[in-house]
Amino acid sequence: MLHLTDLRVILDYVPRFRDRIFVIALDGAVIADDNFTNLLRDVALLRSLRIEVVIVHGAGLQVRQLAAKQGLKLTNSDGTGITDLITLNASISAANRVTQDLIVGLAGHDLQTATGNFMVCHPCGILAGIDHQYSGRVERVNTPFLRTFLDHDIIPIIPPIGFDGENHLFRLNSDAVAVEIALSLQAAKLIFLGAHPPLRQGKTKLRQLNVADTELLLKKRRQEIQPGEALSKLENGIRAIKGGVQRVHIIDGRVQEGLLAEVFSNEGIGTLIHANEYQSIRPAMKKDLRSLYNLLQRGMERDELLKRTRAEVERMINDYFVFEVDRNPIACGAVHLYLDEQKAELASLYVDDRYENQGIGIKLIHYAEDLARSAGIRELFCLSTQAINFFVHKAGFQLAHPDQLPLNRKIIYDRSGRKSQVLVKKLL
Ligand SMILES: CC(C)(COP(=O)(O)OP(=O)(O)OC[C@H]1O[C@@H](n2cnc3c(N)ncnc32)[C@H](O)[C@@H]1OP(=O)(O)O)[C@@H](O)C(=O)NCCC(=O)NCCS
Repeated sequence: MLHLTDLRVILDYVPRFRDRIFVIALDGAVIADDNFTNLLRDVALLRSLRIEVVIVHGAGLQVRQLAAKQGLKLTNSDGTGITDLITLNASISAANRVTQDLIVGLAGHDLQTATGNFMVCHPCGILAGIDHQYSGRVERVNTPFLRTFLDHDIIPIIPPIGFDGENHLFRLNSDAVAVEIALSLQAAKLIFLGAHPPLRQGKTKLRQLNVADTELLLKKRRQEIQPGEALSKLENGIRAIKGGVQRVHIIDGRVQEGLLAEVFSNEGIGTLIHANEYQSIRPAMKKDLRSLYNLLQRGMERDELLKRTRAEVERMINDYFVFEVDRNPIACGAVHLYLDEQKAELASLYVDDRYENQGIGIKLIHYAEDLARSAGIRELFCLSTQAINFFVHKAGFQLAHPDQLPLNRKIIYDRSGRKSQVLVKKLL
C-alpha cells in the first residue's frame, strides 16, 4: 500500500502522467460504498497533478435497489442483457441520480464537471435470435467535443444511458462505454473500479497480465477466474489494450487509497493488463540508476548478489537491462561480455520479492541469452549462491567448475570468497 507521506514516490510519476488522460470507470456499487468520498478526493488529487480525468459510471446496484423499492421486475440490471421498457425507465432514473451524486461530490472538491451528448448510440438489436430491446451500444464518440471539456479542466461524467439522434434512449453497459471513451481519447489508462475482491486464478492473485496471456486465460481457464462478476472487465480490458490504450487496471474500489496505490506505486492493489510483456524489458539508462541500485542492494544485503558500488554499476550501466511495470523497474539483470573467451556472464539477476514466481526471472534470462547471441557469444555463464536450482531446473544451466570462468572473472571470483556455484549454458 502506498504511504502518502512518501511524496517522492508520487513525484516520480508526475511528469509521466501530466496532461495524460485517465478514464475512470466506476461501478454503481462503488459509488454507493463508504469509500466513495475518499475516491472523490483521490480524483481531486489526480486533477491537481494535471492528469485529465473522464468518469464513466454504472448504476446496476441503484437500478436493483429502485426496482426492489417500487416492486418492478427487471429484465437485466447492468445493460448486458435484454432491457425492456420498465427496466429502461428504472435505469434512467437510477443513473440520473448517480450522475448527480458524482457532480455534487466533485463540486465539493472544487472540480468542474459536465455531462452531454458525447456519444451516438444504437440498439444492440437482435443477438442470437433475441431482441435486446432497449439495450444499446456506442456507435460513435464525439471526441473533439469531449476534448473541449478536458481542455477547459472540466471532468466529463458519462452515464450508462445513451441516445441516437431520433429521441430513442438506451441502457448501456458502463464497462463497454468506458472502453469506447478510452479508445476515442487514446487514454493512457483505463481504470475499472468494481466492488469486488481482486481477481484471482485459483489461489493466485492476477496482478499483471499481458494481453495474450489474458486472452489465453479466458479461453482455457475461464472457470478458474474469480470473482466471475469481474470477467467482463477482463474482456473489455483486452479490447481497450488492442485498440491502443496503454494500461488497463481492474481494482477494488472499496479499498481506501486503492486508486492512488494503483496509479502511484509499483505493486498496485489490483490487476494490470498491458500490451506486450517483452516490451517491458529494455536496456537500463542513466536515469534508472537509483531504482536499479535499490533493487541490486536488496540482493546484496542477502548475499544473493555480488557486492558492487553504485559507481561500478554506473560505469557498467550499458550492460544492464530492466523489467518495467508501469514504467518502473521491478527486476533487472546484466550481461557482461568476455569477447576474447567468447563467453558472457549473466549477472545481477534480481526480481523484486513482490513479483517473484510470475515468470519474470525466466523472461530476463531469455532476454540475456538473446543479447549474448547477438554479440556472437555461444556460452553464457552465471554465478549463484541461492538460486542454483532455479538456473539448473528452470533455465537449462549446468553446474560447472570455477576454472571454466574467463581468467579476469576467475580472479574476482577467488577474491570475493563467496564460493558461488558456477553455472553454464550453451547457446544454440
Ligand atoms: C532467482 C530469481 C531471479 C527467480 O525469479 P522469478 O521471477 O521469481 O522466477 P520465475 O517466476 O521465472 O520462475 C519461478 C520458478 O522458479 C523457482 N525458483 C525461484 N527462485 C528459486 C530459487 N532461488 N531456487 C530454486 N527455485 C527457484 C520457483 O519455485 C518457480 O518454480 P515453479 O515454476 O515450479 O513454480 C529471483 O528469485 C531472485 O531475484 N532471487 C534473488 C537474486 C538471485 O539469487 N539472483 C541470481 C544470481 S545472479
